[in-house]
Order: sequence, then structure tokens, then C-alpha cells
Amino acid sequence: MADFSLRHLLTLDGLPRVTLEHLLQRAAIWRHTALHGPFDATPLRGRTVVNLFFEPSTRTRSSFELAASRLGATVLNFDMASSSTRKGETLADTLYTLEAMGVTLFVVRHAADGAVAALAEVCAPTSSLINAGDGRSAHPTQGLLDMLTIRQHKGDDFSRLKIAIVGDVRHSRVARSDLHALRTLGCGEIRLAAPPALLPDAAISAGCRICATADEALDGADVVMTLRLQRERMEEGLVASLEAYFRDWGITPERLRLARPDAIVMHPGPMNRGVEIADAVADGPQSVIRAQVSNGVAVRMAVLEALAGNGQ
Ligand code: CP
Repeated sequence: MADFSLRHLLTLDGLPRVTLEHLLQRAAIWRHTALHGPFDATPLRGRTVVNLFFEPSTRTRSSFELAASRLGATVLNFDMASSSTRKGETLADTLYTLEAMGVTLFVVRHAADGAVAALAEVCAPTSSLINAGDGRSAHPTQGLLDMLTIRQHKGDDFSRLKIAIVGDVRHSRVARSDLHALRTLGCGEIRLAAPPALLPDAAISAGCRICATADEALDGADVVMTLRLQRERMEEGLVASLEAYFRDWGITPERLRLARPDAIVMHPGPMNRGVEIADAVADGPQSVIRAQVSNGVAVRMAVLEALAGNGQ
């Protein structure tokens, strides 16, 4: 039998298709249990998972906590605001401190690009790290849950799909992880649409169709992904006004009518309603935004399970 165990999950870039498909398959199996129980699975019994978040989170942190506890782990939620990082302790020393307490599974979010990969270089051989979002670089579990959500609604054959990603692609780690996964799964056409200042570098958008307008991107699309304006990672002045942004790039019911009638609308959250998406779309019949959140627990169970073999 193939061995799909992983040491770390830092990025989807370069993750073999067979591994990605395996994680999606395991997540699909966990999906019902993840939400409805029985909560008696034990692959992580006796293990401690720490949520080491240096940036705010609702979805990722909560779903990792649920996923780990549903797999039998003890979960430690690190509180940055009251931690010794406020007294100058480094990220690496924080890791060593938690390793000394017997923690072996680390879920890490950090504002700096490459911060989680740097920790993976210095951690103990028994430790495994999951990147829960670093800077604008990667958010691999979000990429996986997005792929699971697309599969649920559109089937396994991505070569038939036209997927429009609209919004602040330049600053989005979600977009980067989605692009890696969509390419690996053989997506038929990936369209990127954003004001020029919010488009990514050519290396990121390679192979994608760049659309000058949101309308062009949505025309006949099967999947519409919209992204939050990442104002915390943005230099001043990239967006003239939120009203103008919504007018030109927001996903409204009128604009959504350009997509296929059975198109789904995705957003990784948190949403800025009235900026990148209208209420009527976010809460409308084509929205799968809450399904994305539900899938997050199952995907994180699958990833934790794949890492469970290390550190035993
Ligand atoms: N999508 C996502 O990462 O959401 P949170 O910031 O709430 O975790």
C-alpha cells in the first residue's frame, strides 16, 4: 500500500498529484464525522497539537482545534497577546519551549513570508509543522478545502472547468495555494481579474488568462472565487475607494448572471461585504462559502492524520 504520510505541510507547490488526491479522498471520508461525529477517532491519541497563531484567525484556528480534538489529540491554543513573544522571545525559542513540553504537532500562522518553512528547518526530528498561512506565500489547507469544495459541486474532472479568481490576488496566500492546486489537478482555464495594482507577478500568474474586467472573468465561468482586499499587506493608495472597487470588481447578482447558471461562488473568508461581494451573492443560492468552512474541519483532519506518523 502507498505511504502518504507527510513530515510537514508547508505549501501545495510541488505536492505530487497523488498525495493531493489522497488528502482530498481522506477529507471526503472524514467529512461527515468531522461535523456530526462520532468523535471517537484516535489517530492522535496521546499527542499534543499547538495552534501557534501570530495573526488573527477565526476559521483556520477553530477548525484545526476541532480537527485535532476529534482525532483524539490534546490541543493547546497559544495566545500571542499574553505570550513571552511580547517580551522579545524569538519564534524559534517559542518552538523549542513548546517542544520541551512534549508538543510534536505545530499549526503555525505568521505575517512573514517563509516563517513556517524557517521553523521547519530548526525543529526537532519528531516535530511536524503545518503552515496555517504565512505572509502572502501559502495557505495550503485553505487550498485543499477549496479543491474539496469544487469537487463536491463540480466533480473530479477539473479539465472541464473555467475558474475565475477575482480580487486582490497580489497579496493573497489563498490565491497562491489555490493556483498550485488547480494546476496540479489540471484545471481547464484559470482566469485572474483585478485592478492592475492587485495582480500578481508573472511567475505567479503563469498559464492563467488575465482579464481586464470582472465581467470578462465571469463570462461563462463554472466557479467564481472572490478574495478579500488584504489591506494589512497593502501599500497605501492601491485602491482609490472601496465604493469604486465594489462597482468595478465586486461580485454582485447582476455580474454573477454572466457566469454559468450553475456556477458556484467561493470566498475564503473573512468577507468584506459590500467591498468584494454583495450580501445577496454571499447569502444567495450559488454561494458555497459555508460549505468551504465545513470542509475545513475535514481537510484539517486529513492533514493531521497524514502527519501523525512522525514523532511516534
Ligand atoms: N480563510 C481563513 O484563513 O480565515 P481565517 O483568517 O479566519 O482563519
